Amino acid sequence: MTIADSRVIELSTISDDRGKLTFVEGDDHVPFEIRRVYYIYDVPQAVKRGAHAHRALRQVMIAMSGSFDVVLNDGKVQRRFNLDRPDRGLFIPSMLWRSLENFSTDAICCVLASAPHQESDYIRNYDDFLHAVRVR
Ligand code: TYD
Repeated sequence: MTIADSRVIELSTISDDRGKLTFVEGDDHVPFEIRRVYYIYDVPQAVKRGAHAHRALRQVMIAMSGSFDVVLNDGKVQRRFNLDRPDRGLFIPSMLWRSLENFSTDAICCVLASAPHQESDYIRNYDDFLHAVRVR
C-alpha cells in the first residue's frame, strides 16, 4: 500500500428524527480487523501530535467531535486531510509519516487500529523513516 491508498471512508450512518447513529465493523467498513481503539483529546492550542510512522500498523482516524488536520507523508508526497465529521474516517496505511495538528479545543480524535500497542512498530526519527522507505 502507498500514500495513494490513504482515503476518507464514509461510515455507515442511520439518521432519523432521534438523531444519528454511526457504526463501524472491522474487516468490512474498515480494511482490517480492529484490535485496539484509543482516543486523543484535550490537546492544547497549537500542539502537534504524531510525528512518527508505523511499520505495520494500519489505522482509521475519526473526528468524534471538533476538528483537526492529519498530514501524511511517504518521504516524497504529502497529503493533508481535515477531519471534522464523526461519520467519516481517514484510513492510514502503514509506513507513512503522520502529523496531527490544528486541533480545535473540543476535538476528540478516535483511532481504530489493526494491532495492540507495540513500541517496536514505531519509527520516531524522520531520517530513520526516510531510510526505511528508500530501502524497501
Ligand atoms: P503516541 O502514539 O506517541 O502518541 P502521539 O504521537 O499522539 O503523541 O503515544 C503517546 C504515548 O502513549 C506513548 O508513550 C505510547 C503510549 N501509548 C500506549 O501506551 N498505548 C497506545 O495504544 C498508544 C496509542 C500510545
